[in-house]
Amino acid sequence: MSQLLFEKSVPGSNCFCLPPLGIPEIDVAASLPGQFRRHNRPEIPELSEVEAVRHYTELSQRAYGVDNGFYPLGSCTMKYNPKINEWASRLPGFSSIHPCQPEHTVQGALQLYYETQEMLSEITGMDGFSLQPAAGAHGEMAGVMIIKAYHHHRGDFARTKMMVPDSAHGTNPATANVVGYEVIEIKSTSEGLIDLDDLRSKMSPEVAGLMLTNPNTLGLFEEEIQSVAQIVHGGGGLLYYDGANLNGIMGVARPGDMGFDVIHVNLHKTFGTPHGGGGPGSGPVGVKAPLLKFLPLPVAVQKGGAYGFDYDRPFSIGKVLSFYGNFGVIVKAYAYIKALGAEGLTEACRHAVLNANYVRHQLRHAYNIPIDRLCKHEFVLNSKKQGQYGVSTMDIAKRLIDYGYHPPTVYFPLIIPEAMMIEPTETESKQRLDAFIQALETIAKESENDPELVKNAPHNAVIKRVDEVSAARKPIVKWEAPR
Ligand SMILES: Cc1ncc(COP(=O)(O)O)c(C=O)c1O
Repeated sequence: MSQLLFEKSVPGSNCFCLPPLGIPEIDVAASLPGQFRRHNRPEIPELSEVEAVRHYTELSQRAYGVDNGFYPLGSCTMKYNPKINEWASRLPGFSSIHPCQPEHTVQGALQLYYETQEMLSEITGMDGFSLQPAAGAHGEMAGVMIIKAYHHHRGDFARTKMMVPDSAHGTNPATANVVGYEVIEIKSTSEGLIDLDDLRSKMSPEVAGLMLTNPNTLGLFEEEIQSVAQIVHGGGGLLYYDGANLNGIMGVARPGDMGFDVIHVNLHKTFGTPHGGGGPGSGPVGVKAPLLKFLPLPVAVQKGGAYGFDYDRPFSIGKVLSFYGNFGVIVKAYAYIKALGAEGLTEACRHAVLNANYVRHQLRHAYNIPIDRLCKHEFVLNSKKQGQYGVSTMDIAKRLIDYGYHPPTVYFPLIIPEAMMIEPTETESKQRLDAFIQALETIAKESENDPELVKNAPHNAVIKRVDEVSAARKPIVKWEAPR
């Protein structure tokens, strides 16, 4: 562990060197009423410029990101994001405008905003989008609010339940709950797909809809999606598409053609912005024509050759974020889509699927793959074979750190015991994938021959094992000065 800036502080050191004051010094504090004045000096670290620079550089070198190496974090999609997108989002015409500027002064930005709505509609097969939501979970919330608005608008207040598969991402039941629905869990089959019989038996006039991810969180395509749509629509409900896994079908199939009524898309997973680290993200919400009037406010429109925002939408669920969403992320998505074009998006998806299937296939001898069939962009293995030597999925994940890899997602989805979810993404070369496969194969051998080595990993990391529950529940994010 290196020291904190506060611990490195040397009284009297500083990062500036100012010439002597040429005018009389004014004691600003003296002009303030006593109760607003500070009585002790602020406890801020005192360091020379070079020490401050070294401190932050050292921290940055410890951080692991997609630019350092392979980051196969399933479901979270940590894929490489072309640097040109960053360049585009920093152009002054995008980064230096103010959200309160009159529309005629920001026509370029509005055109980009409008065209992004249109392109997302085309890619997903929906009829309109709002780019407001700031994350996937936020898009889900807006989408489920639209479903509620739709039922209430028809005078149907009896639908108080939302169906969610047991394989769903945790944000799905949480969203349904936040919007005021009781969650009904739908079982998965032994093949990892939604159980149609269970769905049929739970659909009723009390159910507002079904939230579904396709490909689902096991990376599997829900092949019976048309029957799913028939069951839900037949019972008067709506079908919600959690588009966090859109990169698994992008350019090949469209949720709008599968019968989905409402969708969100994680721009920060599929379209060129890093996911994780707390944001910023963007979770645009899209709908089919009958639901357009409920979209959050405002929606960008083209008015007689100019672009602007439409606020005159009396049935809208209202605003879900200040101003217009995370505009920088929207610029990156626009740049990504335009740079790749229709063919490039399809190609990206195909490579993501190919890479996932290659890694799955190569690892099936060393690891147990609970549902070993053709997957989309990600797949799930577990540590069943290594468990006989007392090695858990967590141990394998920690040992991967020693081999220089960011561990995949672990213990999700919940329906697979000891799950390890691997998403290689489209940008990784065969050499990189082979090296990763080899590391996992070596760990499988170590588990058998020297399990303690794996159980005590990581051996090369700055921080070994932490108390993960306390780290998550009681994080220490504040430095307390010793008294
Ligand atoms: C399947 C699925 N749904 C929803 C989300 C939520 O997205 P966000 O993290 O942007 O809120 C994620 C996030 O990774 C996800 O994988």
